[in-house]
Formats: sequence, structure tokens, C-alpha cells
Amino acid sequence: MPVAEPLTRTQPPVAVLTRQDPRAPAARLLEHGSVLLLPDRDFDTSAFAGALFADVAADGAKTVSYDPTTGELKGAAASEATRARLTAAVATYARWAEALVGELLPGYAASLQLRRTSWRPRSADHNLSKRKDDRRLHVDAFPANPVQGRRILRVFRNVNPDGESRDWRLGEPFADLAGRFLPTAQPLAPAAGALLQRLGITKGRRTAYDQLMLQLHDQAKDSDAYQASAPHWDVSFPPGATWLVFTDAVVHAALGGRYAFEQTFYLPIEAMEDQAASPLRTLERLTGRALV
Ligand SMILES: [Fe+2]
Repeated sequence: MPVAEPLTRTQPPVAVLTRQDPRAPAARLLEHGSVLLLPDRDFDTSAFAGALFADVAADGAKTVSYDPTTGELKGAAASEATRARLTAAVATYARWAEALVGELLPGYAASLQLRRTSWRPRSADHNLSKRKDDRRLHVDAFPANPVQGRRILRVFRNVNPDGESRDWRLGEPFADLAGRFLPTAQPLAPAAGALLQRLGITKGRRTAYDQLMLQLHDQAKDSDAYQASAPHWDVSFPPGATWLVFTDAVVHAALGGRYAFEQTFYLPIEAMEDQAASPLRTLERLTGRALV
């Protein structure tokens, strides 16, 4: 049943793209599992420094989250004035990230769906359950927000003012992770997708695809053996670095670092250059059935 696809990886899947490099390969690199590192892009935070580098996260909040479509900011416990400046900063980043993706990935532009923006002022929390602990290798899957096969594209930028890097761990190719955990993945119970939606537990219908992606996420994070022994490479993103990644397919962990922005987009797989490289098509090949 498993398809013999990607060869075992021998180096971290990071591709560097400077301003001088042609942008044409960007989509192909991302779609085939690379983190696309842009070392020389400018994003000026000086106008917002007072709000960004104060202690703005609400108690317990891992991130401050912003909805670019409504202008609503969540997770910040700060004065009204600081919140307003923080909202302006995050909104500015959202527009910057959108313009960047439009420039680098023009083939996606017509289909790309702008989702939440986040501000990550804190280092990883050490007191979380395994499943909430993003220091453990995983692929992204959202329990309350089914993507129904769409890709999750995220644009990160480290704006740390103290020279601290943002440290990630990158893992094996998606098909290897899937081949490892699919045999023990619990399928979606009949009618569960409709029920979860009716009860308001999910926004939209959880599909068989969403269920399998959640299972891959949970099983990878739950497994101490996987975390200890799976192939991985540690990479550091210095202040000023920008990186793009399909976090639904690139196995990753955020080990540490403070003060980063992140913008999320969803992308229907029909807009990909090679939709066969999507997690949806990969899981459909491995399971032999349609999943959305
Ligand atoms: Fe993640």
C-alpha cells in the first residue's frame, strides 16, 4: 500500500531565496517540503517597538492573535493604548506578508485565503500537555478549524530586538510520517463531522482528511519514541529572517525564541503547481480512498 516516495533526507529541508534569486522555483520548493528562507527582506518594527516588546500576552496565552478580516485582536492583556498600537503593528505585518506572498507566489494569488495573524512574544511554554507542546515534532492540524484539504501556508518573521534567534527543528518528509502513523490512526466515526459542526465544536465540517491530519499531529506529539528517534535537523532563524512553509506537510517543532510574527493562509490544492504533493493527495494514495 505505501507509495515509495521521498528518498530519505540527508540535510534539513531549507531553501534560501535572496532578492537576487529568481522567484520562479518558490512554489515548487514549498510544495515539495522545503522551508523557504528569505534572509534579506525588510520589515521595520521601529514605529511599534513600544507596544511589541512590552509584556503584552495575556496570562497563559501562547500568542496574540489577530483577524485581518474583522480587525479583532485576541490574547493581549495590555492597556487600550498599547492594544491599539499592537493591533496596528500586527495589521501592518498582515499586509506585508500578503504582499510578499503575492510577489513570490503569483500563481497562488487568485486562490489564497487570508487567515489569522499572530504575534508570538513569548518563548515556548514548558508546562503544556504533549499535544499542545509545539516543541514536539508535528504537522499542523486545527481541531476547531477543519481545512477540508486546503493547504496551510504560514509566513514567519523573527523581529527579536536582542539578537535572539528563533530555533526550530525540522523532521522527515510528510509521506514518511504518514506511513509511520496511518496504520494506527483512528478514522472519523460516521456522522461525527456533522455532529461536531452542529455542536459548534468545529467551524465547518470535519472531513476524513481533517481527522487523519489530527491523528498524525496527535500521534507524533504523543510518542516519546518518535520525538527521541525520528530524523530531525535543528535550524536557527536569526532576527531579520523571514521564512515561508506549508506547516501541514513540513514536520516541525518550535524549540525557542521570542518576538516573531506569523501570517496564515489557506490554499485550495487546485491552485498548487503540483497537487500530487499535497497532504490530501498523499493520504489518498496511501489509504486508497477519497478523503474530502
Ligand atoms: Fe506547528
